[in-house]
This record gives sequence, structure tokens and C-alpha cells, in this order.
Amino acid sequence: MRNCVRREKAVRYPIYRPRRMRRTETLRRMVRETRLSKDDLILPLFVCPGEGVKEEISSMPGNFHLSVDQLVAEIKEVEALGIPGVILFGIPQNKDPVGSEAYSPDGIVQKALRAITAEKPGLTVITDVCLCEYTDHGHCGVVKRDGESFTVENDATLELLARTAVSHAEAGADMVAPSDMMDGRVGAIREALDEAGYEEVAIMSYSAKYASAFYGPFREAAECAPQFGDRSAYQADPPNSDEAMREIALDIEEGADIVMVKPALPYLDVIYRAKHEFGYPLAAYSVSGEFAMLKAAAERGWLDERRVVMEMLTSIKRAGADVIITYWAKNVCKWLAGAT
Ligand code: PBG
Repeated sequence: MRNCVRREKAVRYPIYRPRRMRRTETLRRMVRETRLSKDDLILPLFVCPGEGVKEEISSMPGNFHLSVDQLVAEIKEVEALGIPGVILFGIPQNKDPVGSEAYSPDGIVQKALRAITAEKPGLTVITDVCLCEYTDHGHCGVVKRDGESFTVENDATLELLARTAVSHAEAGADMVAPSDMMDGRVGAIREALDEAGYEEVAIMSYSAKYASAFYGPFREAAECAPQFGDRSAYQADPPNSDEAMREIALDIEEGADIVMVKPALPYLDVIYRAKHEFGYPLAAYSVSGEFAMLKAAAERGWLDERRVVMEMLTSIKRAGADVIITYWAKNVCKWLAGAT
């Protein structure tokens, strides 16, 4: 009986009782658990045909369609700020049913890569590997239509994705990032890269990519909204997180170097689980919709842009992300350096 009482006491009065501290700025700095740094950031960039083109994307203020020459200039600026990586998306000249420009040696991303590598940049150049920007129907792979219904043909698509990845490596990419969500694509890409002699080219896989409405502004930016149907047959279902863990496990097994959860803010629990279950390098993509909603509110004076962005990105890191892909990467660097 006495024992019981004692045990109860021990629970009610834990040995360790946090003292109330006066939370001065210096003290807060000392005990801070999560620090956002420029080393955590990757900036997405959109490259388009032409010369001297720098066209703002209306739903993503401060983000542009850049022609190759402008892109090279932008990358120099990004490097000077100390951002360790960029991820490239291509806006092709021509679209067709099989997304030929995605894997053509003269495709827009391949041209951009050659121009960038000629400058020998000191940052990691990552490319998005997907067909949706390059297909006229806007789906991420080869589509077979049957009246009203359609299927995206997994295995035929794998071959084209692998060709795309190899052509990016040939043109100078340091890392490829498949975002299509076909089954087995990490393995297919790894094998194709190794066979072509690009063993050192890394893979960042969009492993847990949800069928999300938060990609809306990006689809305008990359002109890749599906012309019929949606992507829910191949992207993950938002209510599920066990499914996301299985996708991540498979991608690690197939040879991914970094796995990703996307979007970030509405999926912090998935980020947390992924980090804790796998302890593997983890990226989180804070997508266009996350950018657009805060940007729009900030423009109306409803939110303080700097404070909400820093809070949001720090939370993504606190949840477990090692790397954050964000359209705010440049601003964050400037803010961290003390600019207002
Ligand atoms: C597909 C791709 C998408 C995004 C990155 N890669 C769009 C989609 O799946 O529809 C979204 C990025 C964003 O919203 O910021 N290649």
C-alpha cells in the first residue's frame, strides 16, 4: 500500500521539474532546438525557350519563367547567397503525347544544364524528372485512353523516365528528382544511370507525393495541368500515411539517396513519421499553394510575410525535414543575414 502511494507521488511530482526561466532573447537563443539555415534550402527554378526572357508567374509573385541566359545569371546570384542547391523545371517548346522534349538532347532542361555546367557552379544542380510538363495531355506518363476512362501505363513510362534521367546526367545534372510517382521508377532510373556510367549522379525521390490541390499555382507556372482526369490514380491519397511509409521504404530499397514528402505544411505528421521511422535524408517540398496562400495574405496585409515564412519553414524542419524546397529560399537567406 505504501508503495502505491509513493509511486503515485513520484508521478505527480517528477524528479525533474523545469524551472520557470526569464525568457530573454539570449536565453531563447541558447536553448533553441531547431535552427533554420540557408544550408537547408533548395530553390525551384523554371527554364523556358528564348533569350532575355524573365516573365513573372502571376500566381507566384517573385518567381519567373527564365530563358537559359537569365537562368545562368539567376544561378550565380543564388550561389552567391550561399544556397546549396536548385531544382530545375522545364517549360518546353513543344508538347506531344509521349513527352519527347523531356528526353531529347536538345530539350530545354538539357540546354540549360549545359549552359550552367559551362560556368562550373559551386552548387548542386537537381532536375525534376517527369513527363507532365512535356506531354500534351498533361499526365506524368504515357496514357492509354479508352473512351471516357484512361490509364497511365506504368512500365512504358518507366523507360521514358529513365531516358530523361540519363539525358539530364549527360548534360551535367548532379542529382535527378523523379516526381511522376510511377511504381519502380527509382530502381529503373538507378539502373539506367549506372549502366550509362553515371553512378555518382544522385537520386532525390518524390516518394510520398500526395494528390494535392496545393499544386494549383505550379500547374499554371509549368503549364502542366492534366487536360482530362486527375492524378489521383498515381499520387498518394491525402488521408493515408501508412501508404506514404511504404512508398518511402520501396524508394530507399530501390536506391534513392534522399526521399521526399510533398506538400510540406499540411503533411507535417508524415514528415515526422518518415524521419523517425527511416532516419534517412529527408526533403520536404513546400509547394506552390503554400507559397501562394501566404503570399496573397501578406500582400493584403493580413499576415507578416517574414514572420509566417520563418515560422512555417522552421516547423517543417522541426517535424524532421533535412532539406526544404521552397520558393522563398532567396528571401530566407537575406532574412537570416539580418535584412528586413
Ligand atoms: C510534376 C510536379 C508537380 C510539382 C512538382 N513536380 C506538379 C504536379 O504533380 O502536379 C508541384 C510543385 C509545386 O506545386 O510547387 N512534375
